Amino acid sequence: MTSSQAAGAEEAREDAEVSTRKKTFTEVQTERSEQAERTVLIKCPQKLNEKKLLQYLSSHGNIKSHFFFENRGIHALIEFSEKNSIDSLQDAVGVPSAAEHHVVPFKSRLFTFTLKNPVSQAAGGTPVHLSPQFHIPVKDLIPKLCHADSISSQMYMLLNEYQLTEENIKLRYLACSLVRDFARAYFPDSTVKPFGSSVNTFGKLGCDVDMFLDFCDTQKHATKMKKGPFEMEYQMKRLPSERLATQKILSVIGDCLDNFGPGCIGIQKILNARCPLVKFSHQATGFQCDLSVSNSIAIKSSELLYIYGCLDPRVRALVFSVRCWARVHGLTNSVPGTWITNFSLTMMVMFFLQRRSPPIIPTLDQLKELADEKDKHVIGGYDCSFVTDLSKIKPTKNTETLDVLLGDFFEYFGNFDFRRNSLNLRKGKEVNKPESSPLYIWNPFEQDLNISKNVNQPQLEKFVAVARESAWILQNEDKTQQTIKKEPWGLAALLIPFGKSNASKTKNRMKGIGSETIRSLLDSLKLNSANSLQKAVGK
Ligand code: CTP
Ligand code: MG
Repeated sequence: MTSSQAAGAEEAREDAEVSTRKKTFTEVQTERSEQAERTVLIKCPQKLNEKKLLQYLSSHGNIKSHFFFENRGIHALIEFSEKNSIDSLQDAVGVPSAAEHHVVPFKSRLFTFTLKNPVSQAAGGTPVHLSPQFHIPVKDLIPKLCHADSISSQMYMLLNEYQLTEENIKLRYLACSLVRDFARAYFPDSTVKPFGSSVNTFGKLGCDVDMFLDFCDTQKHATKMKKGPFEMEYQMKRLPSERLATQKILSVIGDCLDNFGPGCIGIQKILNARCPLVKFSHQATGFQCDLSVSNSIAIKSSELLYIYGCLDPRVRALVFSVRCWARVHGLTNSVPGTWITNFSLTMMVMFFLQRRSPPIIPTLDQLKELADEKDKHVIGGYDCSFVTDLSKIKPTKNTETLDVLLGDFFEYFGNFDFRRNSLNLRKGKEVNKPESSPLYIWNPFEQDLNISKNVNQPQLEKFVAVARESAWILQNEDKTQQTIKKEPWGLAALLIPFGKSNASKTKNRMKGIGSETIRSLLDSLKLNSANSLQKAVGK
């Protein structure tokens, strides 16, 4: 091999390394946000010639990627290679005529594409491929799961069906980017980014988009001011509290979306909540959105979960199964209440994985030890530092299967001493509860907060009861028998509400076992007595 060939090979290896290396949370956020800025969303006619649409759009610039999806009509997401292609497209696009409705002349990146002569213009096109934005219902998943060869593969199947797709992630970042356009009308330095399950690797198709408004430049300016012999600062409106500022900002942006945002409907301002937010439905993307103002600690917990989700494939598979199981049994709910939230449940799974021997994921304190200078973050007096480079975290030596982990998860929490102990993910230890909330999970960053404070005793008891029943089902099932009888087994058996089918089946099974045992006992007695009778008669 010549030296240039060797150098080429080395380069190729490095390229491969970069593409397989897991990106940091910030790298992903920056890349995706930038991608969203080069993207537009177009409502298309039902009958469409894909090639012609792309040809038309290509006159404004190179199209890097695109896909179609159904959301009360066909929509196309078009990602251009260059941002200025959007300016070119916007220049060429018309404004709706004011004949029927008076329009608000805000020029967004949402367009409607129509054919002047539908019959001839759509001709020659094959139906476009529609990328699914929702997962299949649990009842349709169950028969699929029954064809798997182990609980482990059932869990990966569920993960594959439910996890966010590449397309859905793009759509989520686009929704944030479109809201950002409105926020910039007031605050040119602001950005809108997703957090929570849209970005923490535990998002399921159909879940809400949590987004926050960030004024990143304000922080940069705050550090700038300190340098040099002079001080010059912006005159800004001063308010008695940060909370009041947040409420005022969210209130105007809520009004702006309500009055001028194309397809932003059902705006609800929930400004008195602990974390003030504006809820709305974004019709074009089909997302339910929760907009709040930058909450650095919530973003850090999204990053922490992102790291855990990337470390080992079993982590996400277990979380998705447990979340789905909890939803089926009414342990979680889409509306807030006294039940466990998906966020708390995810933290419970993380804690369980920290408690394995050897642990499957490290504790937060261990991640803090690996942090370098650039990972240092202190927010509101709390040290939120932890390593962000995934390659610095040693892979686990634990080789347990998901079959074992799922059963043990239910057993572990079915027997957990919730009366005395709390879950501390920073230390990866059960510690005495600092107060009497039924379920106490330490907020990993604000150590005096309980993330599951909302959970009441009956809800916790229900969780424990369903966990025990599930552990029992997994321990006592006979996969071969259940497969022959075409009964759901493994994870599938746990995704049927117990009240409806399983509980009665369990009881029947118990009854069955009981009556069979008694019958065989009776039979043997009869046999014995018949024998003895015969013997007696014979005598
Ligand atoms: N959060 C938090 N403390 C809480 C609740 C929420 O720090 N007590 C933060 C977490 O970072 C969480 C995010 O807010 O991920 C969004 O909250 P939520 O929407 O309730 O949870 P998700 O993780 O997004 O899960 P879901 O799929 O149910 O929306
Ligand atoms: Mg959420």
